[in-house]
Amino acid sequence: MKTLIEPFRIKSVEPLRLTTREERERLIREASYNVFLLRARDVIIDLLTDSGTGAMSAAQWAGVMKGDESYAGSESFYHFEETVQDIFGFRNVIPTHQGRAAERILFSTLCGPGDVVPNNTHFDTTRANIEHSGAEALDLPCPESRDLSAPGAFKGNLDLVALERTIEERGAERVPLVVVTVTNNSGGGQPVSMANIRGASEICHAHGIPLYIDACRFAENAYFIRAREEGYADRSYLDIARELFSLADGCTMSAKKDGLANIGGFLATNDDDLARQERDLLILTEGFPTYGGLAGRDLEAIAIGLREVLEPDYLEYRIGSTAYLGRHISEAGVPIVQPPGGHAVYIDAAAFAPHIAPLDLPGIALTVELYREAGIRSVEIGTVMFGHEDPETGDPVAARSELVRLAIPRRVYTQSHIDYVVEAILGVWERRESLSGYRITQAPAVLRHFSACFEPGA
Ligand code: F0G
Repeated sequence: MKTLIEPFRIKSVEPLRLTTREERERLIREASYNVFLLRARDVIIDLLTDSGTGAMSAAQWAGVMKGDESYAGSESFYHFEETVQDIFGFRNVIPTHQGRAAERILFSTLCGPGDVVPNNTHFDTTRANIEHSGAEALDLPCPESRDLSAPGAFKGNLDLVALERTIEERGAERVPLVVVTVTNNSGGGQPVSMANIRGASEICHAHGIPLYIDACRFAENAYFIRAREEGYADRSYLDIARELFSLADGCTMSAKKDGLANIGGFLATNDDDLARQERDLLILTEGFPTYGGLAGRDLEAIAIGLREVLEPDYLEYRIGSTAYLGRHISEAGVPIVQPPGGHAVYIDAAAFAPHIAPLDLPGIALTVELYREAGIRSVEIGTVMFGHEDPETGDPVAARSELVRLAIPRRVYTQSHIDYVVEAILGVWERRESLSGYRITQAPAVLRHFSACFEPGA
């Protein structure tokens, strides 16, 4: 059969409120043209993030009822710990309330001023937590990632030549760890190859530096390794995941992505001394080491989700549906980061509306237009998120690229929802010349994309 169906049926439904274009005109104006300021009930298809927005399975909901809420030593913790140890292979498993809590504990334990932490591309919270420790967060994406529209099997790779150079220039003692993010979210959701992780592992271990994996989308990355890397076509996703983590010394994880849960995360390591220090910090802000800021029912749901996410039917549908969206809009000419990522499609807003200069915020123009057109919420990953002021002149400086991310929640939308998104994007594409720029009327000093206000007119 060539029709790809959702490998599930629906037991419980959540109604969508279908708004009119007139209502949406008013709602987006009242939200100061920032989609983060919309109420979710006013959004028809919410592609703001794939984090914590997935649908849990009947088995996970049954797990929620079985959750053991004991403060210490709960059965749900042991189920969670055994599952993580079995898939990820690390001895010490430390639950946290989400990914960034694991990052904060890891980086505040290992890093300090004068240190540098290389990564293929740091996610915002990873960067922020490293910088908070006083260390420098350094992005070393592979050279192929620079051409957004070029095809490529593993455009999420870490630049190994640059990694070696960085270690040589800064000195291994100033590199407390190296991180590889799978898939590379800030780099277009692109995967990392096993060969690249093996290369990073060899370089790190030759210098006595631990290698960590930011594992948020590890199952999606395993899918791409099996599909695209030689020698993996006959291996199971579980096997591929185990091999990948066996090359590393630890990982951070947001279970809100490939844990198929609405909340949760963990930090894992083979270093027992480090784990002791991390658990001391955990108790300070997250909780006792057998719950770490989560309820027993959350640990149970994650343990079940981590198995379900590696099921072949699920992963084929998951990656297939992202690719379906990417293919249908790019075949009509819409410029996207190629190839489509695992969890999201990234539209190149600068190429979509080249008549809008980067500082006139083409990404905001497109997010606003997609909302007006069809009630779709996407997110700008461009100058509002990453632009800054020139430290000398104070002039605004645009970001490296102007992207709009359409992140697909797991197991939430059907193919007809995706067809609706395709139709809306093509509608806006037809009249792209009518789009015009935006300016910022009010913005906080940091993380301004969450709360900035805009108005039309460049
Ligand atoms: N690392 C990566 C690669 C991420 O994509 C995220 C979150 C985190 C770490 C932090 O995890 O949210 O559980 O604290 N990404 C979400 C997104 C928010 O929309 O891409 P968290």
